[in-house]
Amino acid sequence: MSKRSPSRISRLARLGGLTGRISSSYIGGRVRAAFRGREQRKEALDRLHVDNAELVVETLGRLKGAAMKVGQSMAMAAQTLDLPEDVSKVLGQLHAKAEPVPFDDIRESVEAELEKPLEDAFAAFEPRPIGTASLGQAHAARLPDGTDVVVKVLHYGVERSVDTDLLALKTVFLGSRMLRRERAEVDAAFDEVRDRLSEELDYLQEAANIATFQQIYGQDPRVHIPRVHPHWCTERVLTMDRMVGEPLDTFLEQATPAARQRAGVTLANLYYEMAFRHRTLHADPHPGNYLFDPEGHVSLLDFGCVKRFDEFWIANYAHAALSALDGDREGLLEYVRRIDGWHGNRPGAADVLWHFADTLSQPYRAGQYTIGDHQDSIIDRLKPIIAEMVRYPELTIPRDIIYLHRSLGGLYAIARRLVVTSDWGALLRKHASYAIARAEGRLSA
Ligand SMILES: Nc1ncnc2c1ncn2[C@@H]1O[C@H](COP(=O)(O)OP(=O)(O)O)[C@@H](O)[C@H]1O
Ligand SMILES: [Mg+2]
Repeated sequence: MSKRSPSRISRLARLGGLTGRISSSYIGGRVRAAFRGREQRKEALDRLHVDNAELVVETLGRLKGAAMKVGQSMAMAAQTLDLPEDVSKVLGQLHAKAEPVPFDDIRESVEAELEKPLEDAFAAFEPRPIGTASLGQAHAARLPDGTDVVVKVLHYGVERSVDTDLLALKTVFLGSRMLRRERAEVDAAFDEVRDRLSEELDYLQEAANIATFQQIYGQDPRVHIPRVHPHWCTERVLTMDRMVGEPLDTFLEQATPAARQRAGVTLANLYYEMAFRHRTLHADPHPGNYLFDPEGHVSLLDFGCVKRFDEFWIANYAHAALSALDGDREGLLEYVRRIDGWHGNRPGAADVLWHFADTLSQPYRAGQYTIGDHQDSIIDRLKPIIAEMVRYPELTIPRDIIYLHRSLGGLYAIARRLVVTSDWGALLRKHASYAIARAEGRLSA
C-alpha cells in the first residue's frame, strides 16, 4: 500500500472497531429478535448481515492487504453458502475497490529493490498501472533488450498486516455466527489461508512457482506461461513476460463457439492435471488471471496462489470422487473419513453427505454435459444441500480441500460463461485413476 496509507496502529484500531461493532450488533439483534416472529426474525437477521457486510466492505476497501484479499474469498464462498443475496452482493464490491498506488511510490519501491534508477533498469515503464489488487500493483514495462514485460510491485508494508488482518476477520467470522462451525475447524481454515497468503507475499516464491509451471507446461500448445526475468526480481518486485491476449469479457464478445469450447476444455483439463497429476494447482481462478487468443488458447497469469497436494491425500480424494461417480455410497463415506471430512456416526450426516456427493456427481455421470446452458442448474440444486450440511458440526471442511474446491468453483463460474460441453466423468476418471495408481506405486514417473 502507499506510504500514505494507514499505519499499523490505526489499521488495528479500524479492524478492532469493526469487529466490536459487528459483534455487538449481533448481540443487540438477538435480544430484539427474541420478541419477534420467525419470519420477521429472519428478515431482521438478514438486514443485520447486510449492514455488517457493508461495514466490512467500507473498512477493508480502504485498507487493501490481506483483509481485503480474504474478504474477497469470503465473498466468493458466500455465493455458494446461501447467505442472503444482498450480503453476497455487498461483499462482491470488494473486487472493484482497491485504489491505485501513485506512480511516485511505485518508482521509489522499484528503485529501492533493484538498487538502480528506474530508467537504468528498464527501457520503458508505463506509469499507469494495468491492475491494482489487494496485495500488489502491475505495470507494463520494457527491458533494455526490448522484451515486453509486466512488473508487479508489492504494496508497501502489506506483509506486516497479514496476521492482524486475519485475526480481525476470524473474530468477525466467529462473532457473526453466520455459520455454526467449531473453533478448531475455523482455526484450521484460517491457518491454510495464512499459509497461502504468506507465499503470495513473497514474489521470489511466485517466481519459483512460475518456473515450475514453465517446466510442466512450457512446451504445451494449449497454454502459454510467461518466463520470469530473475535479474529484475526480488521479494517485492516480480518481472515476467507480458502475455498477449484478451481478457475473458472481450473474448466472450468476439470468440467463435469453437474457440470458447476449446478454452473451456483446456481450463478444465488443466485443473484436473494440475490437481491429480502434478499435485501443483494454480489455485486462483479469478477471470483476471487468464488471457485468451482468438483460437481459444489460454495464457495463465498470477502464480501467487499455488496449492500443493500430498500424494496420499489426493489419492484418497480421488477415491472419494470416483466412489461418488460410480454411485458407491459406502466407498464415498469411507474415503471422506480418510480425507478428514467426517468425524462421527450420525446417520443424518451420512445421508446429507451422500446427497451432496451424489448431486455433485450428476453432471459427471451424464455422458456429454453442457456447463452454462439453460438446463445446467447444479449450483441451485447444491445450495440447499450445503445449507443442510453446515448444520452438522461433524462434517468438517478438510484443510486441503479449501483451495481445491475454491478453484473448482471459480473455474465452473468461468466455464458457465464460456458454455462448454464435455464428458466430464471421463475426464475426472482419467486423472483421478492416475493419482490412485501413482500413490499405489503402480507408476514410475
Ligand atoms: N504476464 C502478464 N502479462 C499480461 N498481463 C498481466 C501479466 N501479469 C499480470 N497481468 C495483468 O495484471 C493484472 C494483475 O496481475 P496479477 O498477477 O493477477 O496480480 P495480483 O496477484 O495482484 O492479482 C492481471 O489481472 C492482468 O490483467
Ligand atoms: Mg490476479
